[in-house]
Amino acid sequence: MGIESVKLPGGLSRTSGIGGAMKTTPKRLLFVDDDPNILDILERMIAPYAAGWETHFSLGADEAIALVEQVDFDVVVSDARMPEKDGFWLLKTLQEAERTRSIPVIILTGDCEPSLKRQALELGATDLLNKPICREDLLGRLRSALRLKGYQDELAENILSLEDKVVERTQALETSHREILWRLAKACEYRDDQTGHHVVRVALYSRAIAIGLGMPPHFVEDIFLTSPLHDIGKIAIPDRVFLKPGSLTLDEVKVMQSHCEIGSRLLLEQPKALEALHWTEEVQHPKRDLADENPFIRMASRIALSHHEKWDGTGYPNGLVGEDIPVESRIVALADVFDALVSERAYKPAFPVERSRQIIAEEAGSHFDPAMCRIFEEQIAEIERIRVQFIEPPAEVNIESAR
Ligand SMILES: [Fe+2]
Repeated sequence: MGIESVKLPGGLSRTSGIGGAMKTTPKRLLFVDDDPNILDILERMIAPYAAGWETHFSLGADEAIALVEQVDFDVVVSDARMPEKDGFWLLKTLQEAERTRSIPVIILTGDCEPSLKRQALELGATDLLNKPICREDLLGRLRSALRLKGYQDELAENILSLEDKVVERTQALETSHREILWRLAKACEYRDDQTGHHVVRVALYSRAIAIGLGMPPHFVEDIFLTSPLHDIGKIAIPDRVFLKPGSLTLDEVKVMQSHCEIGSRLLLEQPKALEALHWTEEVQHPKRDLADENPFIRMASRIALSHHEKWDGTGYPNGLVGEDIPVESRIVALADVFDALVSERAYKPAFPVERSRQIIAEEAGSHFDPAMCRIFEEQIAEIERIRVQFIEPPAEVNIESAR
């Protein structure tokens, strides 16, 4: 076991290290005292027991802090009384910094200094040692402090590893969640194969408008993911109405319009089967509200319910007026209508973009939120780019081949 002493710049402190295999993972100890004789005594006391320890010595608190900034110490032993900055200043400084807060600190005090001892404990000292120092006491306290630091380090490492796993699992869950939403939206498209990339374009138009509105990033992402589900309720409309060629009767129109409430309920209501999934022997009917746990579902449900509301209150199903209509629904309403205008439908040809923009502008303040129409115009270059990129496939092309 070889101990080497190294003079630090300025010659005010010494560093000792243990040679051999243990040097790869040494425990680092720092002793601070303004009296070099005390430091010599401390060094001699621990030398025969210091296998695996890397010992550093400092003659002052300032110098000790300079060392702490360079070395990750496992324990600091400091005299309480030192000229200028004392052991309490050192203790307080270590406690204030995130990186050094967990370093155990042992404070050396005289036997008859209870007030100093109390002060040291209040400032966060791990332990106290009386002067004159007894070798056995010193070694016992050092081993306890090192054990404590070892547990703290292990715990911190486990927490970091756990945090990494939580982030990883959360990302996997979110990816799976997004995929399911998109697949659900696509499944709804199969009902009406003329719409092609309609839901993709509505999602991208909605995102572009939300960005233009200056909405926060989480909103922009949420509307991109949930807007494709705006017509999910159409899945429950009977074929005789949904696929009927020509105009609908008033009753049939009402059936068609019910897709808003059906879609909202479909997204919001707790499926019985899922309740059963969470039953256990102890808890047969746990109350878990999926919508409470999932902001996507809440937004998707609001969009499904109110994307046919109109700014002037003449829309359906609830005749909401102005800003009573959720902002995400006002965005999707515009995106949905614009896409219908520029796309070919069974009942109409595709309108040119300029004509469609004109119709949107004419409906500002009646059908649409006027502010939303202004943003739409500001974003028109991006909206046109999306329209061209996801243009409707020719009617004779099977929709599946375009996916
Ligand atoms: Fe709709």
